[in-house]
Amino acid sequence: MGSLEALRKEAIQSIRKAEDAAAVEATRVLYLGRKDGRLTAVLRGLKSLSLEEKRKVGPEANKLRQELEEEVEKRQREVADDGGEKDFDPTMPGVRVRYGSAHPLTIIQERIAEIFTAMNFSVVEGPEVETEHYNFDALNIPVNHPAREMWDTFWLRSNQKETLTQKGERLLMRTHTSPVQIRFMEKNKPPFQVIAPGRVFRYEATDASHEINFHQVEGLAVGREVSLANFKYVIEEFLNAFFGTKLQFRFRPSYFPFTEPSVEVDIKIKNSIRQLADKNQNEGKWLEVMGAGMVHPEVLKGVGIDPKEWQGFAFGMGVERLAMLKHGIPDIRMFYEGDLRFVRQF
Ligand code: DAH
Repeated sequence: MGSLEALRKEAIQSIRKAEDAAAVEATRVLYLGRKDGRLTAVLRGLKSLSLEEKRKVGPEANKLRQELEEEVEKRQREVADDGGEKDFDPTMPGVRVRYGSAHPLTIIQERIAEIFTAMNFSVVEGPEVETEHYNFDALNIPVNHPAREMWDTFWLRSNQKETLTQKGERLLMRTHTSPVQIRFMEKNKPPFQVIAPGRVFRYEATDASHEINFHQVEGLAVGREVSLANFKYVIEEFLNAFFGTKLQFRFRPSYFPFTEPSVEVDIKIKNSIRQLADKNQNEGKWLEVMGAGMVHPEVLKGVGIDPKEWQGFAFGMGVERLAMLKHGIPDIRMFYEGDLRFVRQF
């Protein structure tokens, strides 16, 4: 035991004296080295002691090993600390602490959810990897339907083969948030009103207004007397609140397999929208912001909702698009570059 204490004193002294990382390491090897460190030798020698001696020396030696390891680490930090206390210059300007903040897309999606929940909508979600059934068939878009061309699809494969579900269905990255409508209606009885925000994927060439992944917010309201007029009211309320000004709207007839009738909604950006005033070239133009319509009777039937009793409206809008219009962002790819000079502006 006495020699253990002597070893301790000696070891701690030389660790503390070590002037740089290499010297600290050398003392570590000298005392704690795996092959023939001096304390390691003591620990190894325990084997040959009597049981009674082992009980006494064993725990002490192990405690010492821990202590020395901690000393080594502490000293390593000190010598790594570039000059340490002695070069501390109290006149140097401090390093500014940067707080992180939410990504602009997160901020926008939270704002969208806030406006809709104030109108009594709930927020629901669905998976990004979908089956062909939910992304297409259940939305009245069977195989070979020409409307499938509206969505360039990433199909999932492994080893050159298509990935299938256990039921043999093809898997894909959802091309829109509309499949969440189906998943929700399968599990819930009307009346209800929900939005479903989320990421979607398209197999497309990228440019200033196209990305292979972007975000949508889907909306769905089903009730006994829900009409297109209700949709018009809700969506005008939403867009006016989102842009913080009274916009002009245009509802154009359109086509989607899962709605009948279908519309597209355009807004006119006026220079009264402060954020858009200067650099936004869209000023005064009609801009499409979403697709929508009355949920197709076939879609309702498919999820066991009687279209004679219930009807509903649905809509889907691009989140990046709205964010770009609101903030005058010229290129969709900026959302995904991770450039802090961009992100920190929000
Ligand atoms: N899913 C459509 C798209 O991605 C957008 C859409 C249109 C959603 C009409 C809807 C709708 O819910 O009713 O192009």
